[in-house]
Amino acid sequence: MSKRIIIGITGSIAAFKAVQLISDLIKMDYTIDVLMSESATKFITPICIQSLTKRKVYVDTFDEENPAIITHVDIANKADAFMIVPASAHTIAKVAHGLADNMLTCAFLAATCPKIIAPAMNVHMFQNPITQNNIQILKNMGVYFVEPQEGLLACGDIGQGKLASEEALIEALEYVLSPKPLLGKKVLVSAGPTREDIDPVRYITNHSSGKMGYALAKAAYDLGAQVTLVSGPTHIYKPSGVKVVDVTSASQMFDAITAISNEQDYLILAAAVGDYRPKYVSNEKIKKDEDNMILELEKNKDILYFLGQHKKENQVLCGFAMETNHLIENAQNKLSKKHCDMIVANNLKDAGAGFETNTNVVTLITKNHIESLDMMSKKELAFKILEKLMKVEE
Ligand code: CTP
Repeated sequence: MSKRIIIGITGSIAAFKAVQLISDLIKMDYTIDVLMSESATKFITPICIQSLTKRKVYVDTFDEENPAIITHVDIANKADAFMIVPASAHTIAKVAHGLADNMLTCAFLAATCPKIIAPAMNVHMFQNPITQNNIQILKNMGVYFVEPQEGLLACGDIGQGKLASEEALIEALEYVLSPKPLLGKKVLVSAGPTREDIDPVRYITNHSSGKMGYALAKAAYDLGAQVTLVSGPTHIYKPSGVKVVDVTSASQMFDAITAISNEQDYLILAAAVGDYRPKYVSNEKIKKDEDNMILELEKNKDILYFLGQHKKENQVLCGFAMETNHLIENAQNKLSKKHCDMIVANNLKDAGAGFETNTNVVTLITKNHIESLDMMSKKELAFKILEKLMKVEE
């Protein structure tokens, strides 16, 4: 069933950004109830929002249509999460002190679901100790804040006060809505390609986008884990709440992972690590003097193999296998050779699988089970993989 979210919009120029957010959340199958402060209606109109949500937008607490229900309580009771976006200094101050003088603040006080506040205001209003104290009061009560970004503000000042990006807002929503079975657990994920220098101009790499590893790191964070993502060079959005360690070469990735592998409960190696690197890296650009050129390569250390050799008791180790033929056989060999608890195997030739896609088609291989999954988004698959790994541990 679709999750029900209350979006409270307050009087800030960033109110127009809530329109896009609402439109995108509806496409993601959320049901959205919108409550606007009187000031918010000076920036955008209820009819604009209502056209997207197809539901009544409330402003006034006493706008009661149905005598059988008290709207602010009814809406609050049905919500799975409550998000004030953008949140003005004034509304933050009101909700921090339990003031309930409009539909939005009444419903906020009545709601017992997880709450998120995304402030947007002038930098000095945001930094003012009054606002900061109010934010701290709410944080102490478990309200999740999505910090505003730094930048050029509508007023012309430069500083922190811009509404957080839509990605960060959706991430926060997914985080508060998710159960937390991995609370207290440490998860390390490797992601992306590695890059091996040939000379100052050229390098060897592969087509990995990092999408699967990033989805796993984000899912593990949503499930409550403390997550470290060791990432090769990628261009994708870094999930907030996840500690990202950027590396370039396979040996840097080896060092970054092995430095912290002992303390991890789960090690998930989704990176496409280069198997070889140039034996000699030229300090100068190599000129094209010869007709043929031979590049001598030497083997990189196999991180997954190393972790399998040094596996701690109760540690769960998961590797990936990307194959173009004999998928199951090759993946099973990797499982035993590298002492893994699970291999996520995918065939590069399957439609919907592979590097740049947002979907994947995989087979989950453990010592005693082979489970072939249908094509699904990498985001959905990340949760499936973690679900399976949590059972491996038991
Ligand atoms: N891997 C690793 N370190 C390497 C190479 C691979 O940790 N130097 C990990 C990958 O992150 C992945 C798994 O090993 O989880 C499988 O990688 P893959 O390259 O498919 O397997 P290889 O053992 O290198 O075998 P081959 O390339 O011959 O298929």
